[in-house]
Amino acid sequence: MKGSLIVSNIAELATPTGFSARRGAEMGRLRSVKNAAIVADKGLILYAGPEDSPEFSKAAELAGRKGALALDAGGGSCVPGFVDSHTHFLFAGFRADEFFWRAEGQPYMEIHRRGGGIRRTMEATRGASFEELLALGKARLDTMLALGVTTVEGKSGYGLDHNTEIRQLEAMAALDKSHSVDIVPTFMGAHSIPPEFAGRPSDYIDFVIEKVLPEVGSHGLAKFADVFCEEGVFGIEDSRRYLLAARASGLGLKLHADEIVRIGGAGLAAELGAISADHLLKASPGDLASMGTAGVIATCLPLTAFTLREPYAEARAMIDTGLAVALASDLNPGSCYSQSIPLIFALATLYMGLTFPEILTALTLNGAAALGRAASIGSLEPGKRADFLILDAPEASHLAYHTGMSIVRNVVKDGESVIG
Ligand code: NIG
Ligand code: FE
Repeated sequence: MKGSLIVSNIAELATPTGFSARRGAEMGRLRSVKNAAIVADKGLILYAGPEDSPEFSKAAELAGRKGALALDAGGGSCVPGFVDSHTHFLFAGFRADEFFWRAEGQPYMEIHRRGGGIRRTMEATRGASFEELLALGKARLDTMLALGVTTVEGKSGYGLDHNTEIRQLEAMAALDKSHSVDIVPTFMGAHSIPPEFAGRPSDYIDFVIEKVLPEVGSHGLAKFADVFCEEGVFGIEDSRRYLLAARASGLGLKLHADEIVRIGGAGLAAELGAISADHLLKASPGDLASMGTAGVIATCLPLTAFTLREPYAEARAMIDTGLAVALASDLNPGSCYSQSIPLIFALATLYMGLTFPEILTALTLNGAAALGRAASIGSLEPGKRADFLILDAPEASHLAYHTGMSIVRNVVKDGESVIG
């Protein structure tokens, strides 16, 4: 039977629990089961718990009768598949030169202002065919899957014109169908101001609202809309207008908020009840508190802070004041050309002061919640999708301890072993 599997001999099964984002102290509470087993049937979890329980025998017998495959975890540990809830993985061309310019001290926004940055990727992406985008996307999804990512969010925003924005979203829909990794598409028409609208951000937002958003909404091409709410890109007024129009088109809301300069994007996220506000390197404590009250998830992107050599987002304080924090890669060709989940574990442990349970929760259940999917993925419990990893380590905490290394041995997606 497709998607039916019995996994035995798991030294530790570690998972957050629940069907919504874990906030504050809840993020530190994992369910940890020694000598565990999992049974999946038709792609869903039937059982996850101790191997020596009668419930396991019952579930295994049921699945076994339907022809479930058996997988011996060999004393490895098991965690939910990672949910990378913020990426720009679908792009053409590279900007390696900019990486080295920044290493020499040139600021990201200075490169952006003189026509580098997002604009260069826009040019390359406009010039890429649908098939080229598919090939580029597939290769990156393969890499992510091998690192244990089973669901990824992907943003448009490298077209900044009607046809290329739509092409990016359609390519993500095609990849979602053909690849094991599930893709949640986000429309980011408001990623930068294209040359056709230079110096006229409000006119560009009008264009997006009138000519692109309606098609994205009516064809169901995206689940969320996102905006680069930043000094010199889109200010609070334009961001609000764009997001309200996106909501009217049926999309959930996300913001790149207070990444480089504090202009109040986190406050706007709270005001609009966005599902998440992301980056937050410069967010004010007051705006973060408002996000907590409004239930906005704080998505921190440590690989970007690392690569930009900026101080990390205050994730420790966010959790201590009761926020739900998600962690994601921000994979893109500019500010962060990395999808390294192992490096996220390392940075969050060593430089952001988070505990292992908090990081695991941020990369699984809270990432799922930031994509509106916490009811179906992000933890290992009956009824959820059987998306999980077998790790080459006797304890799940080696994800952080084995610094910067991937210890993912098997990736199981919808109850089928797709890696290992
Ligand atoms: O999340 N800041 C805006 N967007 C991306 C970078 C995109 C790029 O440089 O291509 C980010 O950092
Ligand atoms: Fe981003």
